Amino acid sequence: MSRLKAEHLYKVFGRRPEAAVRRLEGGAGRDELRADGTTAAVIDASFEVEAGQIFVVMGLSGSGKSTLLRMLNGLLEPTAGRVLYDGQDLTALSPRELREVRSKKISMVFQHFALFPHRSVLENAAYGLEVQGVARAERAERAAEALELAGLGGWETSWPDELSGGMQQRVGLARALATDADLLLMDESFSALDPLIRRDMQDQLLDLQTRLKKTIVFITHDLNEAMRLGDRIAVMRDGRIVQNGTAEDILVRPANDYVASFIQDVDRSRVLTAGSIMDAPGAAALGDAPATVSAHTPVAELFTPFARSGAPVAVTDDTGELAGVVTRDKLLSALGAPADAPEGAAVEAPARKQEVSADA
Ligand SMILES: Nc1ncnc2c1ncn2[C@@H]1O[C@H](COP(=O)(O)OP(=O)(O)O)[C@@H](O)[C@H]1O
Ligand SMILES: [Mg+2]
Repeated sequence: MSRLKAEHLYKVFGRRPEAAVRRLEGGAGRDELRADGTTAAVIDASFEVEAGQIFVVMGLSGSGKSTLLRMLNGLLEPTAGRVLYDGQDLTALSPRELREVRSKKISMVFQHFALFPHRSVLENAAYGLEVQGVARAERAERAAEALELAGLGGWETSWPDELSGGMQQRVGLARALATDADLLLMDESFSALDPLIRRDMQDQLLDLQTRLKKTIVFITHDLNEAMRLGDRIAVMRDGRIVQNGTAEDILVRPANDYVASFIQDVDRSRVLTAGSIMDAPGAAALGDAPATVSAHTPVAELFTPFARSGAPVAVTDDTGELAGVVTRDKLLSALGAPADAPEGAAVEAPARKQEVSADA
């Protein structure tokens, strides 16, 4: 069973929303409704998120991402459709039950994280626990653990204004982690950060995720970020999910021209991993001491071993067992180069492309 499930979710702002849903179901577009002063923010969104997955929702500003996210934790009531969390219909809960689920099981991390200026970093991280009514000593212990996880060990007694923007965002993450909520909803949580710090935060989230195995819905307008973080990615356009797939699906099989226009500038060598392009072990003979990489290695890092010998590279899984092989031809074809490039042709890393962002 999936941890989180959205079934035909609609959110319409403005007059007579139910009537608008019926018109949308009948095929009316967002623009027709807008002419009547009605905004269809989310239209017929359905998807499932498995436990332990990072599910990314990617789309331009105004495409309905935040509205969708706020329906997932019951902050906004759907105009139509259902949200199931562990099989429980959130839309059917009483306000009291909903508050309970929201404070214990679901945590939200926003883009601009408001810290209380006159509370220490520890007290800020403990805020969610305070709301839950957890006793002071336990609060302090759990918040300190969460700060450690978020890379802020040692900063407990500092004040928010002593922290950089990136560190403040980590306090936000720590606050969410401290509550032990299993579902994290992250709305453009890293979007306000400088590119280098942002990358750091992405790495840290991926690292945390291998240990904590939360279920995460992460919103971004940045396709590179989506591809780095997402086990699955839903691309939204004008309120609708136009594609839902893995980073590789979206790169290799874009659902339409709209999605294709986004992926043009994505650096494939950083998105694709050895595990995503490998063949079964035995598909190609490995040498005596083959170069070995983990399945999570970006293919960009395979250029060095190939430049050295051209021989197939061994790929291991998380337990260190041989999981597959990557040949030079496979690497080239995955990157979109002709597979019949002359034998011995230099395999060079393409120049890093500029990071693309949907806002650009
Ligand atoms: N409370 C609201 N009332 C009216 N319109 C809204 C409201 N919230 C969002 N919208 C509209 O819904 C659409 C989707 O907004 P939003 O979900 O914030 O998109 P995103 O997060 O992708 O930028 C936009 O056209 C926005 O103006
Ligand atoms: Mg938004």
